[in-house]
Amino acid sequence: MDTTKPEFYSKNRSFQHDLGVEVLQYHMRWEEGDTVLDAGCGTGEICKYISQQPGVASVVGVDVSPDFVRYASQHNSSPDVLYQVSDITDASTIKPELRGAFSKVVSLQVLHWVQDKVTALKVLHSCLKPGGEMLLWFNTNASKFCRILLGMASHPKWQIYLTDFELNVFPWPSSDIVKDRHSSLLLEECGFEVLSCDLKEHLHPFNSKKQFRNAVGACLGHLCYIPQDKHEEFLNDVEKMTRDINFVSDNYKVTNECQVVYARKL
Ligand SMILES: C[S@@+](CC[C@H](N)C(=O)[O-])C[C@H]1O[C@@H](n2cnc3c(N)ncnc32)[C@H](O)[C@@H]1O
Repeated sequence: MDTTKPEFYSKNRSFQHDLGVEVLQYHMRWEEGDTVLDAGCGTGEICKYISQQPGVASVVGVDVSPDFVRYASQHNSSPDVLYQVSDITDASTIKPELRGAFSKVVSLQVLHWVQDKVTALKVLHSCLKPGGEMLLWFNTNASKFCRILLGMASHPKWQIYLTDFELNVFPWPSSDIVKDRHSSLLLEECGFEVLSCDLKEHLHPFNSKKQFRNAVGACLGHLCYIPQDKHEEFLNDVEKMTRDINFVSDNYKVTNECQVVYARKL
């Protein structure tokens, strides 16, 4: 299982895709001539989906991974969908023509991988036209998914292999969310009016144990440090943890809670 390859991610992202489309369908009202930025586009399937929505004129997908951008360009591009390598936490990597160019920004399952959220939000703000809208979908530190990533990184049995592994997961702090106002202090601080900010429970059924393991494996950078002949045993422990915290049921139905934020540039 080489979980770092875009081919593996693309093949095993049904969980992300189905729920991502659900979140987009619920929140986005596409308008004639919409120009859309997908920040952290991964392998580009969501960019392709967005480009097919009525009214959408063009989509740009940016991602920090050159391998993912190469895969997206080869498999999910069209005259209206372009990809670029950019780090949303480094303004110098954002091409000048992206500034103020978008009526909508989406970023799905990305911001819990980003440490410097303020810089990222300011970069996304700078890419929006005045009054442009943004949809974010991410995990907070309350999410079961992040607990699994963190729990496996500090699992005593696997420490011997994981000494050099740096887990780059930075769940959005729940303390930032103002529940009674349905808002986020970070977004307000970065120049957004928060239109909605809610914890959404997602359910996703997998057809088989293998499908579930591949989907979880696609997010586990840990596996690069575990010898290949021990992957199965490591995934047994992952599966045990996912059951212990009720992330997955006996018939491989996953339940997770993520934050969904819809905001407008002030
Ligand atoms: C879980 S994937 C989600 C991909 C895609 N949004 C989807 O729904 O399939 C997270 C993506 O965020 C990208 N990413 C992480 N940090 C980033 C950053 N600082 N700038 C741009 N992309 C980033 C990763 O390379 C990865 O492709």
